[in-house]
Amino acid sequence: MKNRPTILITGATKGIGRALVARFAPAASALHLVARNGQDLEALKEELSAVDCTVQVYPCDLSEALSVEALINDLQTHLTELDVLINNAGVYLPGALLTEPAGNLHYMMQLNVLSHYELVRGLYQKMPRGSHVIHMASVASRKRFDGKPSYSISKHAQGVMTDALRHELRPLGIRVTSVMPGPTWSHSWEGAEFPKERLLDAKHVADAVWHAWQMPPEAVIEELVLRPFEGDIE
Ligand SMILES: NC(=O)c1ccc[n+]([C@@H]2O[C@H](COP(=O)([O-])OP(=O)(O)OC[C@H]3O[C@@H](n4cnc5c(N)ncnc54)[C@H](OP(=O)(O)O)[C@@H]3O)[C@@H](O)[C@H]2O)c1
Repeated sequence: MKNRPTILITGATKGIGRALVARFAPAASALHLVARNGQDLEALKEELSAVDCTVQVYPCDLSEALSVEALINDLQTHLTELDVLINNAGVYLPGALLTEPAGNLHYMMQLNVLSHYELVRGLYQKMPRGSHVIHMASVASRKRFDGKPSYSISKHAQGVMTDALRHELRPLGIRVTSVMPGPTWSHSWEGAEFPKERLLDAKHVADAVWHAWQMPPEAVIEELVLRPFEGDIE
């Protein structure tokens, strides 16, 4: 863990990503923030103007391979060094395998898995020893839930990829953490009628990531599983 790190966070404008920005911004020297909606990114940048760090925003649709490639080129130009890469952007599209809209699984594989894969491959050479890659996974990385099998497939694939990256990045001194939250209040739960405490608060997840990042370089939290105290929502 480095004082005043340079941090990249994808999916930074809402939900867990937004909570991660709030948690890490006071410690950062530079934040590089990615989401699709440029206005939301500019509004977030404005909000962060009181914080003592530089903020660069990158509107990009990570579900499109060509946009990811352009983003990586852009980041390679802007970044001299990257200390924390948080691949958080991801989506849950409901459905059953046999009846969901065509393209559901492909979309989630591109966004939840391949964009993370490409960003690590494109940026790890900018990451010094002691830096940290953090992947936002899910309890669905370990378990099938009715109504979201394609999401679970994508998160399982992301889990294996993260494990393999940990193995390959260890000799370079780069730590890798997979974060597996249970249901967490965010955009994807809008309109759900559960008591507030039935889901995690995004701040809980951001706090857990913060603690993982604070571990000394000789230790790594490889996997973090967080659930609401009452357990999953089946
Ligand atoms: N909420 C949960 O219950 C829960 C539980 C376990 C794991 N997770 C995981 O946590 C991560 C964040 O989830 P969340 O619930 O916090 O999400 P969220 O509230 O829906 O926010 C998603 C963020 O990602 C951005 N985004 C969405 N699609 C994108 C795309 N195609 N390209 C670039 N950015 C995109 C959004 O901004 P734009 O719309 O402007 O692009 C937004 O900033 C995901 O990986 C999710 O699988 C969530």
